[in-house]
Amino acid sequence: MNAPAPSPAETLRSALAGLLDGLPPRQAAQAVDRLIANYRGATPTEAPILRDRADVAAYAAYRMPATFEAVRSALAAFADAVPGWVPRDHVDVGGGTGAAAWAACATWDGERPVTVLDWAEPALALGRELAAAHPALKAADWQRTRIGPALSLAGADLVTVSYVLNELTAADRAALVDAAAQAAQAVVVVEPGTPDGYARIIEARDRLVSAGFRIAAPCPHSAACPIVPGTDWCHFSARVSRSSLHRQVKGGSLAYEDEKFGYVAATRLPVVPAPARVVRKPQIRKGQVLLDLCETDPALRRATVTKRHGDLYRAARDTDWGDAWPPAED
Ligand SMILES: C[S@@+](CC[C@H](N)C(=O)[O-])C[C@H]1O[C@@H](n2cnc3c(N)ncnc32)[C@H](O)[C@@H]1O
Repeated sequence: MNAPAPSPAETLRSALAGLLDGLPPRQAAQAVDRLIANYRGATPTEAPILRDRADVAAYAAYRMPATFEAVRSALAAFADAVPGWVPRDHVDVGGGTGAAAWAACATWDGERPVTVLDWAEPALALGRELAAAHPALKAADWQRTRIGPALSLAGADLVTVSYVLNELTAADRAALVDAAAQAAQAVVVVEPGTPDGYARIIEARDRLVSAGFRIAAPCPHSAACPIVPGTDWCHFSARVSRSSLHRQVKGGSLAYEDEKFGYVAATRLPVVPAPARVVRKPQIRKGQVLLDLCETDPALRRATVTKRHGDLYRAARDTDWGDAWPPAED
């Protein structure tokens, strides 16, 4: 019997494993330190932060498994809201080493034209190299493009913008979201799960709704977000298992880490958003589960599901932060 084909996540992990081969561990560690310092510094920058092979190898080893899992989570929630839809093509803007291209392959089977746009040539080169390991990404087109006022995107079913808005000026963020709205049937934007990341997600969400898009996820509605600005921020968590390479680059010995991210998935397609979404880690108490929900009103509400609720209680115990509530019936 043939062994099952490896999943995109497994293929990515083994492609990344070979990455720092030949790079002395000290040099790899220095490249990661430089990267962290740059990302903590003032962004946006005038020129790419990812300047050479050591930078992009460090980025891919240090960040790509986490951005891949965050985008995969966002795309999975989006796919649930547009059942049966499969993108015919995909453009990933500010795609770097291609995390979102891999995440789309992990969400929808089959092959489709994929274009990754970025201004950092070394990131595109490494992305192309990694993608050679994935049958559906071998033919991807990696194009050097600067995101700015002149950006225009070719029509595409799916446009992803993952961990990029953070690096742009307000004017460039607006230009990018508007270009995506003009080009795409579906736009998925992912940002770090911080208050600032949330603010950028809300800004993009507002622009997409104004352009006629409906919100497919995470919100159960396309009305204004019920969070009072400054009091809280909507974000989620994706578990990232760490390879030994990942541990070597990041230090520490934990087998996994949790990547916090925020996202919005919007579309011109008909959508079936979740009735409600779990917006915090559920609290499991003796005989009860507390779920913080964003509902269609739109409103935030804490639901207490107890043993007396029978099947619903069992479902609540299996429900994670970010899941739709109640779970769809199979
Ligand atoms: C944090 S990385 C994210 C990469 C990838 N999307 C991911 O999720 O792993 C940000 C990317 O945006 C690109 N970028 C930043 N500003 C840009 C600009 N003005 N034009 C084009 N690419 C830009 C960077 O080169 C980098 O690859």
